[in-house]
Amino acid sequence: MKKIFVIVLLALAAPASAQDTLFADMGGQAGIDRMVDASVDNYLADPRIRDIFADSNMDRIRAEFKVQFCQVAGGGCVYQGHDMAAAHKGLHLTNADFNAVIEDLQDAMDKTGIAFATQNRFLARLAPMQHQVVTR
Ligand code: HEM
Repeated sequence: MKKIFVIVLLALAAPASAQDTLFADMGGQAGIDRMVDASVDNYLADPRIRDIFADSNMDRIRAEFKVQFCQVAGGGCVYQGHDMAAAHKGLHLTNADFNAVIEDLQDAMDKTGIAFATQNRFLARLAPMQHQVVTR
């Protein structure tokens, strides 16, 4: 009985501690801020996708990314912007647009010193959002 109780406790504790580890492994909020700034710089310099951001307030978008990515990494932030479907609905994004964003994000994570295994853990949490963002 006691043994089962301990196993249940371990199972409950595991997801939370794995999340905390990701936020810390990404360098905490300072690491996420550096990654977001480098990735947005990449988007705006990338001829494949830069025009898509032309009408957006990039200061606001940077700030939204920083909170959302903190939340995704398990850092305890609460993202309060638009949900992903609403934010991207009018943009008619393709899988090619999505792949370009992921490539630019990977490049930003390389440049800001996030370890490869940590990058993959973070990208795995973004992957389920693809179907909310890509609409054609
Ligand atoms: C997993 C992938 C993505 C995530 C997590 C994400 C996240 C976000 C967030 C948090 C916002 C701000 C929402 C708000 O409060 O208004 C946003 C806006 C935006 N995203 Fe994404 N995004 C993703 C993919 C993409 C892709 C592939 C593109 C195009 C290449 C894109 C282009 C934009 C644009 C242009 C805006 C600003 C829209 C506006 O001005 O209101 N996003 N995104």
